[in-house]
Amino acid sequence: MDRVLSGIRSTGQLHLGNYFGALRNFVKMQHDAECFFFIADYHSLTTHPDPRALHDNVRNALSEYLAAGLDPNVATIYVQSDVPEVAELSLLLGMHAYVGELERTASFKEKIRKHKDNINIGLLNYPVLMAADILLHRADKVPVGKDQEQHLELTRRFARRFNTLYEVDYFPESEAYNFGVELVKIPGLDGTGKMGKSEGNGIFLSDTDAEIRKKVMRAVTDSGPTTPDSPMSEPVANIFTLLKVVAPADKVTFFTEQYNSCKIRYGDLKRELAEDIIGVVAPIREKIEAIRSNDKYLHEVVCDGAERARRSAAKTVAGVREIMGIRRF
Ligand code: TYM
Repeated sequence: MDRVLSGIRSTGQLHLGNYFGALRNFVKMQHDAECFFFIADYHSLTTHPDPRALHDNVRNALSEYLAAGLDPNVATIYVQSDVPEVAELSLLLGMHAYVGELERTASFKEKIRKHKDNINIGLLNYPVLMAADILLHRADKVPVGKDQEQHLELTRRFARRFNTLYEVDYFPESEAYNFGVELVKIPGLDGTGKMGKSEGNGIFLSDTDAEIRKKVMRAVTDSGPTTPDSPMSEPVANIFTLLKVVAPADKVTFFTEQYNSCKIRYGDLKRELAEDIIGVVAPIREKIEAIRSNDKYLHEVVCDGAERARRSAAKTVAGVREIMGIRRF
C-alpha cells in the first residue's frame, strides 16, 4: 500500500489554492493509502510569528482540514512539533545537504528578497526540514501544488544521496502527486500570480457567501475580446482556470465559446463562478466553526495523531541512526 504524506504551514486560513492544490487530493486518497497529514508549525517559525498567533493558526488549520473531509479515523493527522523525531532527521539529513543548493532554491531567494532583515538558518534549512517531514514516513506520494515541485526534487535528491552514500535502499523517491496529472497552480483574483495567504488575492474556506460574491465580482479582467478566437489575457485566463476547477464542464465550454465569439459578458461569467465557488466552500465553512470550538475533539485528534506518527517516525529514525553508525554501547 502506498504511503502518502502532505502538510501545510500554519500561517493563516486555508484558501482555494491549498484546497485544490493539495487538500482535495488527500481527502480522495485517504481510504486507499496509508495517509499522514500534518500542520507544519516548525516551518511557520521561519517568519517569526507572534506565539499567540502561531497557536491560533494551528487550531484554524486543523479545524479547516477536518471540515474539508479529512477523517482522523483513517488518516494520521498531527502537528509537526508533536513529533520531535522530525527535528533529529532534519539534523541528520542536513549533514548531506549543501549550502549552495539550498541557497539556489526559488523559495529561499524569494524569502530573502522580501525579508532582508530576517535571513535565518531556519529559512535556509526549510527544504531539509521538509524532506525530513516526507522521509520520516518514507512517503511514496506527496499531494502538493505546483509551487512545491522544487522542494520535492530536493527531497528526492537527498534521498538518493543518502542511499548512494551508505549503499542502502532505505528512502523511496517521493513523488509530488496530483492523480497522475499536472500539478496545479490556482491563480489569485488580482490578475497575476498564484493565490496566496498573504497576497490579499484569495478566497478562504471560511469566507461567507457574501464575501465570496464580492471578491469574485471585483476580480481583475480586461476590456473584452474584439476579434474572434483572440488569445486570453492573463487575468481572464486566470478566471477560466478557477472556473475549470469548480464548475461543470458544459459551463466552461459555454463561456469559452462566448469568449471566442466576442459575446462574453464578464459580469455573467463572474456571477456563475462565484456561485460554483460557494458550492465548494459553503459546506466546508459550515463545519469549521463547530470543530474549531470543540477543544476536546481537537485534543483527541492531535494526541492520537501524534502517537501514531511517532510510532512510524521512531522506526525510520532508528534505521537512519543505525545506517549512519550512531549506536549505543
Ligand atoms: P503551504 O502551506 O504554502 O501550502 C500548502 C499546500 O497548498 C498548496 N498551494 C497551492 N496549490 C495550488 N495553487 C496555489 N495557489 C497554492 N497555494 C498553496 C501548496 O503547494 C501546498 O501543497 N512547504 C509547504 C508545507 C510543507 C509540506 C511538507 C508540504 C512542509 N513540509 C511536506 C508537503 C510535504 C508549504 O509551505 O505549503
